[in-house]
Amino acid sequence: MSAKRTGYATTSERGLLWDSVPMRLWQKAKRLGTWDPAAIDFERDREHWAGLRPVEREFILRTLALFQAGEEAVTLDLLPLIETVADEGRIEEEMYLTSFLWEEAKHVEFFRRWLDQVAEAHGDLWAYATPSYRTLFVEELPQAMDALRTDRSPATQIRASTTYNMIIEGVPAETGYHGFRESLVASGQLPGLLEGITLIARDESRHIRYGVYLLNRLIDERAAGAGDGRGLGVLGELRPRRRAVRADDAEVPGLREQPVRQADEGAGARPGQGPDGDRAFDPGRHRPGERGGRGRRMNRGAAWT
Ligand SMILES: [Fe+2]
Ligand SMILES: [Fe+2]
Repeated sequence: MSAKRTGYATTSERGLLWDSVPMRLWQKAKRLGTWDPAAIDFERDREHWAGLRPVEREFILRTLALFQAGEEAVTLDLLPLIETVADEGRIEEEMYLTSFLWEEAKHVEFFRRWLDQVAEAHGDLWAYATPSYRTLFVEELPQAMDALRTDRSPATQIRASTTYNMIIEGVPAETGYHGFRESLVASGQLPGLLEGITLIARDESRHIRYGVYLLNRLIDERAAGAGDGRGLGVLGELRPRRRAVRADDAEVPGLREQPVRQADEGAGARPGQGPDGDRAFDPGRHRPGERGGRGRRMNRGAAWT
C-alpha cells in the first residue's frame, strides 16, 4: 500500500538474500517449473479413454472437475498475497510468487486441455462439486485472500496463508493428486494425465513449502514484537506445529518422493476412492495383463522437493 519508496534492496548493501527459502524456491522453480502442458502427448490417453467403462469415465470426470476448479480458484485468488509482499518490499518472496502464480495458471491449462482433447467434456462440470467443496473454494478461500486488500495485519496474512497453502494446497490438492496418481500408475493407463499430474504435484510441493516459510516468518515477527497485536490466538495454535516443520528447512514432511506402491495391496480404502465410497479408478483391475499394467513404476518426479 506504499505509494512511495526510499530505495531498493538490490541497489543497497543488502542485495538479494540468496540463501533465503524464497530464493531457493525461486531457483528450483526456474529449473523444475518450466514444463509446458501443450507439450504433453495425449494420443494414448484418447485410445485408453475410448475403452473405459462409463463408471470409470464418470469417476475420472468428477475428480478432474474438482482439480480443474481448484486450480482456477488458486490462480484467481493469489494476487492479494503477491500485492502484500510487494508492498512490504519483500523482493525475494515476490520473485518466487511470480513463478507460483505462473505455475497455477499452467495447472489450469493442463486440466482444461485434457478435458477438451481427451474427454471432450464440454458440459457443466461444476455440478460435481459437493457442498463442502463449494464452501471451501467459493467462500472460504476468496474471503481469506480478499481480506488482505484492506487488512494486512499478521493475523489476516496468517489466515490467508493457512487457508490457501495449508488447507487448500496441503489437504485436498496434495492428497487428491497423490491418490489419483497412484491409481493411474497402478492401471498403466492415461499416461498423459499421469505425466501432467506428476509435474503439477511437484510444483505444489514448492507452493506448500513457501506457505510453511511464510507462516514461520509471521510467527517469528510476532514473537519479536512486530505486528499490531491481533491474531494471538491463531499464532498460539500454530506455534507447536511450526516447531515440527522447522526441523527440516529443505523439505516439507510428506512431500518427499515416495516409492510407488503396487496396486491392490491389502483391503480397505484405496487411493483415489471417491467421496461417496465408490470404487477407485483402476482400469488395471478390470483388464488384467494389459500392457503397461501393474508392476510399472513411475519414474518421473525424481526431483520432488
Ligand atoms: Fe496448482
Ligand atoms: Fe499451488
